[in-house]
Amino acid sequence: NWTTGNVIEEQVEAIRSLVGDRRAICGLSGGVDSAVAAALVARAIGDQLTCVYVDHGLMRKGETEQVEKDFVAATGVKLVVVDAEERFLTALKGVSDPEEKRKIIGREFIRVFEQAQAEIIADEGPAVEFLVQGTLYPDVVESGGGTGTANIKSHHNVGGLPEDLEFKLIEPLRKLFKDEVRMVGQELGLPDEIVQRQPFPGPGLGIRIVGEVTKDRLDLLREADAIAREELTAAGLDRDIWQCPVVLLADVRSVGVQGDGRTYGHPIVLRPVSSEDAMTADWSRLPYDVLAKISTRITNEVRDVNRVVLDVTSKPPGTIEWE
Ligand code: XMP
Repeated sequence: NWTTGNVIEEQVEAIRSLVGDRRAICGLSGGVDSAVAAALVARAIGDQLTCVYVDHGLMRKGETEQVEKDFVAATGVKLVVVDAEERFLTALKGVSDPEEKRKIIGREFIRVFEQAQAEIIADEGPAVEFLVQGTLYPDVVESGGGTGTANIKSHHNVGGLPEDLEFKLIEPLRKLFKDEVRMVGQELGLPDEIVQRQPFPGPGLGIRIVGEVTKDRLDLLREADAIAREELTAAGLDRDIWQCPVVLLADVRSVGVQGDGRTYGHPIVLRPVSSEDAMTADWSRLPYDVLAKISTRITNEVRDVNRVVLDVTSKPPGTIEWE
């Protein structure tokens, strides 16, 4: 008889007897799966677990703080935050090609994660033998399924592990679907902001800037994105949409008139979608007054942005993210 209580109890016991007095590490991405997996393992082995969160500087407003504060407060987990913004921005300098960006971000992420692991392993404590992964049942099926889906984008799941690292895996969510994982997370006391999070890509805002990624552009996009999220939440639409990427067309400019004169700024694209599994998606028919509010606020509050456009493309043909 399936209940979240049973799942937690069963897993906690299994993890305890597996790990004994040794240690485990877990890469946190800010997403639901890694957060719930970490919380579950923390429930089982307490401070024998160390979580590593790589801040690549491509996160949205408030996200790193959310992991640092809310997650730690809810779980009491031992967390190492690695500030790697400069490293990522340097590696991304001059790069506009989407695939190249994705590969650079994936590579740098693994390097930073490896380095953090090495530092934890090199300390005085007992051996770190286990790596916690937030693998879900659909992930298991997909990777063994061999459905031959075309390789459209290089998905770098932040939390992905270097192959030559010899850890034993702990995957406490392997038998669960997303909605079940959310229920387990709730039962473990994780806040709604984490448990109900919409999907966000591992490469973060780096693939939501069409053009070169710079600190300046990231700051600008962070502002626009925060406004869109705030208004969607205020309108009670979070559960109605799958996610709403906000994209900066950094290589495009258009003429506008703001305040007392001509402007020549960048457009922001809103990409709200509805979906079941992100394999296909439809553009969300958001209420006009909500769109109007977002548009007015973004053009008023975000410097260098003088136009907001709505993406009305389904998937296929358009992917959810622009890159
Ligand atoms: P696309 O753009 O391929 O996105 O239609 C499908 C879903 O996957 C998310 N996405 C990613 N998630 N790492 C991730 O963890 C990635 O590299 C990545 N790329 C896209 C996207 O946000 C959408 O939910």
